[in-house]
Amino acid sequence: MLGAPGAGKGTQAKKLADKYNIPHISTGDIFRANIKNGTELGKKAQVYMDQGLLVPDELVVDLVVDRFKDADCKDGYVLDGFPRTIPQAEALDEALSKSGERIEYAIDVNVADEVIIDRMSGRRACLNCGATYHVVNIPPKKEGICDTCGKSLVLREDDKPETVKKRLAVYHEQTQPLIDYYINKGILKSVDGTKTMDETFHEIVQVIEM
Ligand code: AP5
Ligand code: MG
Ligand code: ZN
Repeated sequence: MLGAPGAGKGTQAKKLADKYNIPHISTGDIFRANIKNGTELGKKAQVYMDQGLLVPDELVVDLVVDRFKDADCKDGYVLDGFPRTIPQAEALDEALSKSGERIEYAIDVNVADEVIIDRMSGRRACLNCGATYHVVNIPPKKEGICDTCGKSLVLREDDKPETVKKRLAVYHEQTQPLIDYYINKGILKSVDGTKTMDETFHEIVQVIEM
């Protein structure tokens, strides 16, 4: 899943993973879990994340490559927020080709920058299970509490407006080039991320089942 910060990658990736019963692999969630647990990786990643910068490629690639070798990934998986740079995409292709595999779809969830700033200030996240809500668009059943696991919801540290602007700039500079990368491979599918969550999901499923 490609898309700017706040485009709805995570929201859609989770729905896809549920529908097709395959794992959802979010590098952002993995880093946040590491930060929460105070691991070495978490300490390193947090320095970059809090500034809205990308974590260096060398801290990301092996993490993902190790993850999709796990048994639960044998029928496929959804990558959310990875790859995010051309070197990451190349490293991913190389790792996959070693086992005769490839990425089947690169789905770009397309949303304009103005809409994004609005969404992020209303986002509430569960740091325990990774679920995401929006105070207006997608509210939890009970205010401030995760529907899935019952833990408290938080405003992410990097969702402050200044940091969101920085993340958008970093996205345009380092991640947007991946759109051309996957167009050239003939697997890019763009969907409209400004529709409702269910409408966007419907569009993605149509693309996959076409
Ligand atoms: P990451 O966690 O991946 O953050 P991100 O890309 O900035 O994306 P977000 O998770 O903020 O947004 P999303 O697209 O998942 O949107 P969501 O579904 O939540 O990465 C965080 C940081 O980790 C990075 O900045 C970087 O430092 C580091 N990192 C991670 N991966 C890396 C990598 N590969 N390389 C290097 N560094 C890496 O939706 C947003 C909000 O909108 C929610 O509130 C949601 O409820 C709402 N919403 C969703 N869909 C709709 C809709 N259709 N209509 C209305 N509201 C909606
Ligand atoms: Mg996300
Ligand atoms: Zn939860």
